Amino acid sequence: MRKIYSFILPLILVIAVVAYFIVPLIDSLTLTWFARDIDKRVILVHSTLNDSLVEMVKNKQRKKIEVLFNRVIQDERLYAMAFCSTDGKFDVKTETFSQLTCVLQDTSKQVALPAGAVNIAAISIVDDENVKLGELVLVHDLSFIERRSSETREYVIYFFTGLGIVISFLTVILIKISYRGWSLSLKKILDEDFISGTKQKSPDFDFAPLVQHLRKYFIEFDKERRSRDDERISWTPKSLKDILNKELYGDEVIIVSNREPYIHEFKNGRPEVLFPASGVVTALEPIMKACSGTWIAHGSGGADREFVDNKDSIMVPPGENKYKLRRIWLTQEEENGYYFGFANEGLWPLCHIAHIQPVFRLEDWEMYKAVNQRFALAVKEEAKSEDPVILVQDYHFTLLPKMIKDLLPKATVITFWHIPWPNPEFFGICPYREEILEGLLGSTILGFHTPFHCNNFLDTVDRYMECRVDRSSLNISYNKKITSINNYPISIEFQLGKTVTNHSEENALIKKMYGIGEDVLIGIGVDRMDYTKGILERFLSIERFFDKYPEWKGKFSFIQIAAPTRSSIKEYQKFGNELKITAERINTKYSTKNWPAVILLAEHFNHHQVIEYYRQSTLCFVSSLHDGMNLVAKEYIAAKEKEDGVLILSQFTGAAMELPEAIIVNPYNIDQCADAIKMALDMPEAEKHGRMKSMRSYVHEFNVYRWAGRMLLDAARIRKRERILRTQL
Ligand code: G6P
Repeated sequence: MRKIYSFILPLILVIAVVAYFIVPLIDSLTLTWFARDIDKRVILVHSTLNDSLVEMVKNKQRKKIEVLFNRVIQDERLYAMAFCSTDGKFDVKTETFSQLTCVLQDTSKQVALPAGAVNIAAISIVDDENVKLGELVLVHDLSFIERRSSETREYVIYFFTGLGIVISFLTVILIKISYRGWSLSLKKILDEDFISGTKQKSPDFDFAPLVQHLRKYFIEFDKERRSRDDERISWTPKSLKDILNKELYGDEVIIVSNREPYIHEFKNGRPEVLFPASGVVTALEPIMKACSGTWIAHGSGGADREFVDNKDSIMVPPGENKYKLRRIWLTQEEENGYYFGFANEGLWPLCHIAHIQPVFRLEDWEMYKAVNQRFALAVKEEAKSEDPVILVQDYHFTLLPKMIKDLLPKATVITFWHIPWPNPEFFGICPYREEILEGLLGSTILGFHTPFHCNNFLDTVDRYMECRVDRSSLNISYNKKITSINNYPISIEFQLGKTVTNHSEENALIKKMYGIGEDVLIGIGVDRMDYTKGILERFLSIERFFDKYPEWKGKFSFIQIAAPTRSSIKEYQKFGNELKITAERINTKYSTKNWPAVILLAEHFNHHQVIEYYRQSTLCFVSSLHDGMNLVAKEYIAAKEKEDGVLILSQFTGAAMELPEAIIVNPYNIDQCADAIKMALDMPEAEKHGRMKSMRSYVHEFNVYRWAGRMLLDAARIRKRERILRTQL
């Protein structure tokens, strides 16, 4: 509106200035025209009256002349008339002439009478023989001219005012129409082409240069702003809260994941709370605490129903009540099809390329779709506003983003893919690839851990979908909607500067528990018992290590914590058995009465217990065959307050891209891994400290708050842009 005023005001000013100069001009013109008119009238009256007047004067018919004059001055413009004879003996006047005399100096002049300004014209009356009988004097009322002139002036002013109003009105309409057309075209471009950067020209306007320019500007601006955000913000729970309050105006946040953060189980008939072994859950918990939103997850615990209210919800963490956990109940059939079947026998091996053949069954797919729909309805139920921010987690919910958008079109859906995304050829073996991609493209933002996974996804979409993929802005335009693809490397909650406690007591306890001598060095591995984690390859490397470097026998033990997981799946059972057999085989080969070579702990440990194991170990071995990020690597670094451990890290983890100070290995290369163990154990203390210090400062800076904060900042930017587009149209 302000823009329109700023356009119209100068226009009105111009019209006023024109009127100011034109009105007096028109005024003087009308005066001239009226004066000329009077001259003509004098001639006309004279030529009309001359003959009859000559006759009446000659016959001395005074009365007749008076009647004639009075009839003629009926004209409102003629004020008075007189016939002034040449000898002064036969003067005839109308009554209105009484203030004048027949003795006139000029034949034509203006004099002021009480009635106002008048024009006096005298014209000779001559007979047929050309003898002058006298003068016909006509007195015209000039106030008439003034009246007319001021009326004209008034009309001219009205005209200009009207003209101003009409022009302003038309201008507003034209601006509105062209602005709307422009906005529609721009919106179209912003929606489909501008952000995807694939189309250069709109059908109505030639926006090509503008679009090129704007796109470049926006991409640069976003990049710049991102790096400014990164520099500016020190990432803490408080900064995350500030983002939620300032950038997202305290908007509602809902998380959806399959795994719940707190599981109630019965143990010996009594309920207890368990914390799942899930990196996803560990990463999301601090965010939920910071924003007090709602977390929707599968209520998988045997005692879960005992603790919820009548809306299937419970405030957690227990005792702290910081956010709401809404539990979704699944039947065994649903869980089998959606979770064990499609998600974990199909998508999990598909994305990890861990040489386990993915299994796709139609009935699992149907159940997967149905469960995704149930979660979508739960999101709708929980949403208090029409445009909440919804964080969808992982491969369990590929269809959910689109389903949510169908139910809540204004919602901002941030989907995070916690596992790797394979190349298009590999993904292409999935029979439902198009539906899955379409579901994911319902997301506003789709995040991966690494640029490599982002590129794989862009390639996959490019290969199988009819859509526009812009690799410079990392946007995909599908069905007139934009999905922004980006890498957000996940991390952990890590605070530096905690007091280093004396752990020697626990150290002794752990070693005692497993019959490990005081001087024996410990290596640690912590994973879910999953074939993607490379635990078997790790054991084979340890075996090779003792083969190659027998001097380490009796001096180094490896503890492997392997939390049982997805145990009803055949491949997992097979893998668990194989692992146990391998550990036994190695122990049979090397262990002595006082020294275990390998300790396999196939059980759940809580976070605090695991930290103690990290602290006691000289090295941590992460040998995933393929892993989205691997948070164990970062947890180990965070636990090493004394900066005294060495991390051996698989090159096939997302973490390897961020932590080059680790000893990076190929887990399939058993010899290389054996040498890496030796290198870690032989590493000089100073080098260990140097590497660990550097990794700790990185993980501290790139913590989980930054991961969540960057996604939320991007979401806030997109929401602002969408709001602007909505309000301008
Ligand atoms: C991986 C997945 C998570 C999952 C976790 C534990 O980290 O990315 O989504 O929660 O494994 O697996 P589970 O099947 O026990 O939830």
